[in-house]
Amino acid sequence: MLIRVPKKSEIKEHELTPESVYHSRRDILKKLGIVTATLPFAAQSQANIFDIFGGDDEKKADVIFERSALTAKPSIYGADLPLTPEKKVLTYNNFYEFGTGKNDPVENSQSFSVDPWKLEVTGLVNNPISLTYDDLLKRFTLEERLYRMRCVEAWSMNIPWIGFSLGDLIRAADPLGSAKYVAFETLYDPKQMPGQASQFVGGGIDYPYVEGLRLDEAMNDLTLLSVGLYGQTLAPQNGAPVRLVVPWKYGFKSIKSIVKIHLLESQPATTWNLLARHEYGFYANVNPQVDHPRWSQGSERFIGEGSIFSSRRQPSTMFNGYQDEVASLYKGMDLRSNY
Ligand code: MTE
Repeated sequence: MLIRVPKKSEIKEHELTPESVYHSRRDILKKLGIVTATLPFAAQSQANIFDIFGGDDEKKADVIFERSALTAKPSIYGADLPLTPEKKVLTYNNFYEFGTGKNDPVENSQSFSVDPWKLEVTGLVNNPISLTYDDLLKRFTLEERLYRMRCVEAWSMNIPWIGFSLGDLIRAADPLGSAKYVAFETLYDPKQMPGQASQFVGGGIDYPYVEGLRLDEAMNDLTLLSVGLYGQTLAPQNGAPVRLVVPWKYGFKSIKSIVKIHLLESQPATTWNLLARHEYGFYANVNPQVDHPRWSQGSERFIGEGSIFSSRRQPSTMFNGYQDEVASLYKGMDLRSNY
């Protein structure tokens, strides 16, 4: 494991901050002895992967969607991780509903409407729930967590998310004993999402984008429903108004702009598994020992300061470094066949 992430805990600070002030909070944590030094990254060379998720274009797009400031409880999740600059988190994206290029989501989503919104929790529950846009921001205690994100394409970012544990929402819905899996669905609205209106723009995906977790994965403390990042509500290109963040799995599990969460007995279908079953499994746990059929998963380009093209390589880590928190979920499982 590259960096040890402390267990959930709180510190006394009540305002969330934009990137500029974020760094001073980290200095305070350092003085309190909470932050440990990050390990040096091993320089590794690896041939460029064939990037099936689209190009690496880093154009400068206008970010004009208005985000609102959010207040959230800080946590010490990832307090010692180097941040990916906010600008990169906002402009280098995968969101095929808005196009397959890395810059397409920011360019094509700035007029996306996120309020009103309805997120429904249905299926094997005693208490089905329907959340409005306001509920998403107010019903649960919001927490800020800096997580690593590792894309299956072998690049990574460290992002300060704001959100609440998916487990809090599922507990409120009161699952039946027969519930074993959780299915997620993105909004289907081809008028607003050009990738859903055209197979060409949307990369040939059969929309809506769907994802799934086992119920125990969904209930794990790390699993976050995010409504914001860098101190503000989410931008459309990052999955506004609410998206999943499962930091020990490849990024494609972290489904964006969710409208449905459905509890069920059997394993649900997932978008990338439907598209290329032998390349993208249901589990999709970050695992440097199990390569993608077309490229190595042993290392990743960390997107930090500087040009995306010159980003440094670092070794990838089992469960993306969250082994302490999640390894027990997979005890006795063959993680090579359950990729
Ligand atoms: N969710 C939907 N609905 N559509 C997508 O195309 N892309 C996934 C995931 N969630 C995707 C999605 C992939 S491949 C990744 S790596 C992450 O979102 C990227 O999240 P980010 O753009 O906020 O960094």
